[in-house]
Amino acid sequence: MGTSPAVEGFFDEASNTISYIVADPGTGACAIIDSVLDIDYAAGRITYDSADRLIAAVRERGLTLQWIIETHVHADHLSAAPYIQDKLGGKIGVGARIVEVQETFGKVFNEGTAFQRDGSQFDALFEDGDTYQIGNMTGFAIATPGHTPACMVHVIGDAAFAGDTLFMPDGGSARADFPGGDAGALYDSIQRVLTLPDAMRLFICHDYGPNGRAIAWETTIGQQKADNIHVGGGKTREEFVKFRTERDAQLAMPKLIIPSLQVNMRAGEIPQDDSGVPMLKVPVNGL
Ligand SMILES: [Fe+2]
Repeated sequence: MGTSPAVEGFFDEASNTISYIVADPGTGACAIIDSVLDIDYAAGRITYDSADRLIAAVRERGLTLQWIIETHVHADHLSAAPYIQDKLGGKIGVGARIVEVQETFGKVFNEGTAFQRDGSQFDALFEDGDTYQIGNMTGFAIATPGHTPACMVHVIGDAAFAGDTLFMPDGGSARADFPGGDAGALYDSIQRVLTLPDAMRLFICHDYGPNGRAIAWETTIGQQKADNIHVGGGKTREEFVKFRTERDAQLAMPKLIIPSLQVNMRAGEIPQDDSGVPMLKVPVNGL
């Protein structure tokens, strides 16, 4: 499993998201995974407290930011990637199937031709198996479609970053019913992730503290294999797809899905209207 990166999680209470700073202890190079931009949607107000916390931590630890990674186009929070890039540099990377997500939601939000559906808003588009460097550490990207087509799990040394492909063992898995989602594909992706070494640390992107337990974000591949309530203990694909489909049919839309998709499919940039004014849309009965 090679090197062991220093991993620090930052929990965002508003969206139950965990952002990570992943650092190479040898060189001080680092990546930020799944940053959060704060929004008061009712007021249409964006603020930067969560992003500033990450930026301050990178500076205090004397780290050099090389990568700003999005595990997928999140539907429950906005990405702060461009804001962080502006302050600290680094390249913004996402799964190459972002182009499918842009195609789908470009239609939903009736985006004009100014909205490119080629992933060009990002600095790097990762294909399955692509590797990249963080100092002397090598990261590699595993395509894990299912929750969304562009989802990826990133493996850096002895640590893996699950995005929404897996939650903590008692949280199970993410929904697979957004446009482009696929419960069967999610099961197959999870099985691939579970072939990683049992001792590998696994860091998840959201936690809701089920049944009153304290918020947590670190588990292992072995724990997931044994105990994950949705896929652990050898659950079959059929069992999973049936369960996931029935569960998803009962779930409400995430509160921030409308602003999140518009911003995150643009690598975290706020869309603008024809006059260049930052503006978000609400497609009526469009989702
Ligand atoms: Fe997600």
